[in-house]
Amino acid sequence: MNTRSLGFRLVAWYAGVLTAVFVLLGVLTIFFLQRYLEANFLDTQARRARQIAGTLISSTSRAEEGALPGEVEKLYSPEASDRFIRITRADGRVVYVSGLPKDERYDPAQVPPASAGEHTRKVRLPENSLLIAAITAAGADGTPYVVEVGASGAGTDATLARVLLMLATGLPIAVCVAVAGGFVLVRRSLAPVARMAATAEAITQHNLGERLPEVDSGDELERLAVSLNLMISRLEAAIDGSKQFVADASHELRTPLTVMRGELESLAQDGQLPGEAREALGSVLEEVLRLAEIVEGLFALSRLDAGEAHAPWQRFDLGELAATTAGQMSLLAEDKHVSVACESHPGVIVEGDRARLKQVIVNLLDNAIKYTPGGGHVSLSVKREGGCAILEVADDGIGIPAEALPHVFKRFYRVDGSRTRAQGGAGLGLSIVESICTAHAARVEVSSVPGNGSTFRMLAPLAGEPLVNA
Ligand SMILES: Nc1ncnc2c1ncn2[C@@H]1O[C@H](COP(=O)(O)OP(=O)(O)OP(=O)(O)O)[C@@H](O)[C@H]1O
Ligand SMILES: [Mg+2]
Repeated sequence: MNTRSLGFRLVAWYAGVLTAVFVLLGVLTIFFLQRYLEANFLDTQARRARQIAGTLISSTSRAEEGALPGEVEKLYSPEASDRFIRITRADGRVVYVSGLPKDERYDPAQVPPASAGEHTRKVRLPENSLLIAAITAAGADGTPYVVEVGASGAGTDATLARVLLMLATGLPIAVCVAVAGGFVLVRRSLAPVARMAATAEAITQHNLGERLPEVDSGDELERLAVSLNLMISRLEAAIDGSKQFVADASHELRTPLTVMRGELESLAQDGQLPGEAREALGSVLEEVLRLAEIVEGLFALSRLDAGEAHAPWQRFDLGELAATTAGQMSLLAEDKHVSVACESHPGVIVEGDRARLKQVIVNLLDNAIKYTPGGGHVSLSVKREGGCAILEVADDGIGIPAEALPHVFKRFYRVDGSRTRAQGGAGLGLSIVESICTAHAARVEVSSVPGNGSTFRMLAPLAGEPLVNA
């Protein structure tokens, strides 16, 4: 269980507060119940004391007080009813004290003397506690007597113990039920968060059209989902805008560049130009060609980004396409004294835009030839493996440093800017390869050892079959 999760923290806090509230309520209940029960009990004792004072003391003078014990025994029989009665003259002489009660719960002799005045008290004896009410009453001749009536507090103690037991078992059960309910509620309430997170993690620039699930719950989570979806919509619009800008700009640049190129080429053919001007013209033409290449690359990428209205897909033999393309590029390889070997198994049928997939082979071969010094070897192979079509372009050229490998498919990324600029690269070839692969549900991988060469592999689904991991 994740103890830092919002759900766990909410339930823990809720359980803690609930337990504290229940314990406080329990303590207050016991406290007030005890006070109420004892006050009620003492009230009864006080009434009885007043009764004794009214019926017996008020009509008895000091001379007749010897008859009091008998009268008390006759009228109230305290031992039989487990009651404590004591009549003490104001000078401290005990006129009457009840005997050991029937249930022998306490010894009346151990009860300390009471002070004068009306009051109640709880006396704790070794085996029991006694709740005693005392009043002062005057005899027939005005002699003051303290009349004490009490009884064992065991009854109220037992009631309190029962209530305490009830609270002690009931409250933990109530806390457990409440916490379990809270846990289920929190889990259910936070489930949309997990779904939103999973969807948000899966959204990339390629599927910005997707939206987070919006549950019509009317709560904060619905608001969050709606706000995030609006944010994704704004991002999508911004990214679409910038893609559109690149697409428009590269499209608009193509025509003037073609015109410039044509004009420069015809100018260069003018034999009357002085040598210096011709040299400058050649260099300008070279730069214009490079610029045209970059613009073409950008234009291709923007069309791929926009999920271009590509040519209808067709089934074709990838091996055959690879062999033809390698043949067409052999001139370029020969110029650099690099040998190109092509080995393709027949019947590797894939489905897609033939021209675009040819572009993949051209870009990979172009790189392999470009980044392999004279005398090197490039091999191109096409085969089926693990249920998918594999196209591999390997060279024994300069290789790519490990730290550059994760970046080679990024736009305008070149391992060594100055080196590749000299070789005319813009850093768009591999981005185009990756975009075409994505559009064909294929993927491209690279492995390389600097100084020993590089291998690029395209794994594409065979016609009619989804791509499986090879
Ligand atoms: N076969 C390879 N051997 C060594 N380095 C390579 C190889 N293929 C690509 N690279 C490195 O990866 C970088 C990116 O390649 P990419 O094809 O995208 O750009 P480029 O070849 O420089 O330019 P462009 O293809 O746009 O003309 C290259 O600049 C190069 O440094
Ligand atoms: Mg390239």
